[in-house]
Amino acid sequence: MSTREIIIDTDPGQDDAVAILLALASPDEIDVLGITAVAGNVPLALTARNARIVCELAGRPDIAVHAGCDRPLGRPLVTAEHVHGETGLNGPVLPDPVMPLQEEHGVDFIIRTLRAQESGTVTLCPLGPLTNIAMALVKAPDIAERIAEIVLMGGAYFEVGNITPTAEFNIYVDPQAADIVFKSGVPITVMPLDVTHKALVTRPRNDAFRALGTRVGTAVAEMTDFFERFDKEKYGSQGAPLHDPCVIAYLIRPDLFMGRHVNVEIETNSELTLGMTVADWWGVTDRAPNAMFMGDIDSDGFFALLTERLARL
Ligand code: BDR
Ligand code: CA
Repeated sequence: MSTREIIIDTDPGQDDAVAILLALASPDEIDVLGITAVAGNVPLALTARNARIVCELAGRPDIAVHAGCDRPLGRPLVTAEHVHGETGLNGPVLPDPVMPLQEEHGVDFIIRTLRAQESGTVTLCPLGPLTNIAMALVKAPDIAERIAEIVLMGGAYFEVGNITPTAEFNIYVDPQAADIVFKSGVPITVMPLDVTHKALVTRPRNDAFRALGTRVGTAVAEMTDFFERFDKEKYGSQGAPLHDPCVIAYLIRPDLFMGRHVNVEIETNSELTLGMTVADWWGVTDRAPNAMFMGDIDSDGFFALLTERLARL
């Protein structure tokens, strides 16, 4: 398999952190060109800080981390401290980052990189609200045809919603941005809650992280220990869902995921269902498919891959 060049757009978040670690642990398959932070789980100052903490945890202070947009395109920021804690990365005690934040705005980094690299070679991996990606597409429409693919975590069909009864957090925070992305014509692969709620850190899986006996293994076990409490209380589930690492795992092992190429539209008007991902899973409209919408995961295969890769850091 050839190495895939990616930009990770993220709002860490413990599960974002694990996704970044998985990418940095997989240099044969993935070349991380840079990381752009966006406001989401916590405000931008914290997500930009957390992204650098995670790079340093992975032993990669050389990664360029850029701060992007500090609020959604058309509405006030909604955050998720109730899930991820006050810092967004509650759980392990990790040192303040020493590596610098890049001066260039994250949106400009995305545009510049897509123009500089060979067309059709760079994959965007959004793990938070789609504000930075939409801003880049609006500011520089020429980049759309240069993007190889957008592989994102967001939305839901059968699971419907987590932040509201009908919306998943990343899409709900910035539905206007999501609408721009899903209408962009860029090939899109979606990891919705239907998949990520099956990627649960059960006790034996958490024990396997801890048993690595490394800083990374311990930190990941402590992160998932922290944010499992929310889903256990809410859903009665067996552990924390590793939403965002599904995006990176897909780049390495697409065979672990099953889905359908369908039409996905974003609700941007209704107060009741704002941010809903209306996926035509059953093909009942004639709307053209615009996204590979995943529906299932080989979760044992996913955790075997993740644990094996984290052991490399
Ligand atoms: C998504 O929202 C955030 O809380 C997680 O990091 C993930 O990206 C799940 O709805
Ligand atoms: Ca996230």
